[in-house]
Amino acid sequence: MKALIDELAAKKRLSREDWVSLIAGRSAGDERYAAGLAREISEGLFGKRVFFRGIIEFTNYCKNDCLYCGLRRSACGTARYRLGQDEILSCCREGYALGYRTFVLQGGEDPFFTDERLCRIVRGVKALFPDTAVTLSVGERSRDSYQRLFDAGADRYLLRHETASKEHYEKLHPAEMSFANRMRCLQELRDIGYQTGCGMMVGSPFQTAENLAQDMEFICGFRPQMIGIGPFRPHHDTPFRDRPDGSSALTIFLMSLCRIMQPRVLLPATTALDCGADDGRTKAILAGANVIMPNLSPTGIRKNYLLYDGKPGLGQDAAASLASLRAQVEAIGYEMVVGRGDYKA
Ligand code: 5AD
Repeated sequence: MKALIDELAAKKRLSREDWVSLIAGRSAGDERYAAGLAREISEGLFGKRVFFRGIIEFTNYCKNDCLYCGLRRSACGTARYRLGQDEILSCCREGYALGYRTFVLQGGEDPFFTDERLCRIVRGVKALFPDTAVTLSVGERSRDSYQRLFDAGADRYLLRHETASKEHYEKLHPAEMSFANRMRCLQELRDIGYQTGCGMMVGSPFQTAENLAQDMEFICGFRPQMIGIGPFRPHHDTPFRDRPDGSSALTIFLMSLCRIMQPRVLLPATTALDCGADDGRTKAILAGANVIMPNLSPTGIRKNYLLYDGKPGLGQDAAASLASLRAQVEAIGYEMVVGRGDYKA
């Protein structure tokens, strides 16, 4: 399979069949080979440096009912909360003092956060901290809404495509959600001018190697500025509670291939890699990831923002979350860098 990895490095694309063989036929040696190449590429472009972004999980209300997600509206065991503008701004103040220059505002699809309310929050953050970037991760909205939020100052938007196969998408989502709308959102975000992030879960129920090949092809064509890839983890209050964990090794392999395919992409080492005893996030950095997103949410609410079981860092405050990740990153010889860390074409 090394020949296919070299071909990807040279041509920045592969055929569907080659993606499938690479994904389904990979060995541990191939994973190491891809990781080494990806690491060389990211060190060449970024040095041994990792961008850090503070993530503020400001609402866990969600109108959707995605079958995998612990925030789905049917998850009755989840105590719901939303942060007010002042609480969000005080998280940013604390984050700014800790050195963050990107704030990621993430939440469920909560109708309380109308354009007006969300725009006011974005403007508030940008007014207080003009040298920061604001990333939104608040799901599917109208084009008009995305435009208003962009005009209010939002710089980036994360919206994972979850899976690039319509058939697979429909097995993970209820009938009222559509693959076409997901794709519409991603296209509009790009068109408006956001630095846009897509991405998928690895090992989600019903996923095949062919599906992952479709994901890689989609990423290849869409050319996002950011790619968020994490393993599926079951959540006890969802229909997928008994499904097995996605593979961290496969997740990291695909991340390496993303780095090889799109050298400059912003590629986070995602939190789901660090479930349980795993040190997946540092492994991911050594395999081409260059972003880490420590939690900046108030400690009291963290246990209620569970997309999956086993999420790390629930008992830590913002400073402790940053300190422990910083220590892990430094232990592998990398440095957390201050700065907005924008995508550079
Ligand atoms: N396991 C792993 N990732 C999940 N997400 C949601 N639920 C799960 C889960 N059970 C991911 C989705 C979503 C992102 C915010 O979290 O990909 O886009």
